[in-house]
Amino acid sequence: TGLVTVDPGFTNTASCESSITYIDGDAGILRYRGYPIEQLAEQSSFLEVAYLLIHGALPDAAALDAFVERVNRHTFVHEDFRTFMGTFPRDGHPMAVLASAINALSTFYPESLDPRDPETVELATVLLLAKTRTITSYLHRRRAGEPLLYPDYSRGYVDDFLRMTFATPYQQYEADPVVVDALDKLLILHADHEQNCSTSTVRVVGSSNANLYASVAAGVNALSGPSHGGANEAVLAMLTEIQGSDFDVDTFMTKVKNKEDGVRLMGFGHRVYKSYDPRAAIVKKSADAVLSSLGKNDELLDIALRLEEIALNDDYFVERKLYPNVDFYTGLIYKAMGFSPAMFTPLFALGRMPGWIAQWREMVNDPQTKIGRPRQIYTGETERDYVPVASR
Ligand code: CMC
Repeated sequence: TGLVTVDPGFTNTASCESSITYIDGDAGILRYRGYPIEQLAEQSSFLEVAYLLIHGALPDAAALDAFVERVNRHTFVHEDFRTFMGTFPRDGHPMAVLASAINALSTFYPESLDPRDPETVELATVLLLAKTRTITSYLHRRRAGEPLLYPDYSRGYVDDFLRMTFATPYQQYEADPVVVDALDKLLILHADHEQNCSTSTVRVVGSSNANLYASVAAGVNALSGPSHGGANEAVLAMLTEIQGSDFDVDTFMTKVKNKEDGVRLMGFGHRVYKSYDPRAAIVKKSADAVLSSLGKNDELLDIALRLEEIALNDDYFVERKLYPNVDFYTGLIYKAMGFSPAMFTPLFALGRMPGWIAQWREMVNDPQTKIGRPRQIYTGETERDYVPVASR
């Protein structure tokens, strides 16, 4: 058919034009809609960034208030949905539950499914931002065997998420402002990252005119892999393993460099960044601040710092331009906040939700969009005749 190029992993294929997120991997630059990630992390809030990514511009005060209010009002889930959440095994991985739950949302909100009607799409957008927050808190509480709490409109998005996750019923709960700020910042840092594996998945699924929930649920599944979002959970497992082996960091690094059993330094390396991931730089600073403010001295942070120091001065990592990525230090912060490792990747998904939605909407509105349908170069048998089973 005249096809000559295979591009495994699409390292050199642009799948779309996009005006949402800009990355310069050599210079370590990340911008959402032109705004540097450092400024947004420092000065903005998660829902404002969600608005920016989805609508293309920062909202004025009235538009932001209206958006926040609309999201807040939709944070309740249907009572049957709470029952549905209770049907999964309690110790089942929360990423599997999250993907199923998001997929199931389409059955509860059938009025929000038409990808071609802008008002319907806006409704689905708000529902997803609102319900995913509630669902994520329920993932934690179900694992802990604790009762599911109802949202409280009077609180902020992150503040109320922490209350719903960690509060004891019928007791006053005040989230630590340091934790609220840190989590808000982490969600902003995860909010979009152009055509990564999960976002490309969302776009490809959506290109068949599948609805937003179906597309995003597929993205959650793509994110769950340890090479992608699952890396934050894998980093903590790696640090814990090193801690259990009497802190033998050097033996571990030798294993990585010899590629023994495919062991990798999790939380390191990136397809696009060939210098320090700007998100990791912000997270590293935040990890130090949050851990000391919470008074949680974690030996695992010392191990992580030591691993980074070795890697940044080792030929193996330097030659391959492997630096810490966003997942390297996040788990330490989530752990200090009280989340179990299985919850780390759902938190990534909660943060990435605005990006998936913005990219899906851009795809739907792009006149260039066609159904995603890559080609192949066939390497199998040429034509041969069928042989009945008795004669084989
Ligand atoms: N530890 C050890 N060696 C590595 C690592 C690592 N973390 N990452 C890449 N390499 C080596 C790899 O073995 C290869 O070596 P060689 O040239 O000798 O064959 C070289 O570096 C290039 O690696 P690659 O696998 O071809 O690079 P890629 O762009 O296909 O993969 C990656 C990118 C992120 C999947 C990979 O770096 C990796 O597996 N990292 C660990 C998992 C991780 O932290 N993922 C999170 C990514 S960032 C946020 C997110 O998406 O969630």
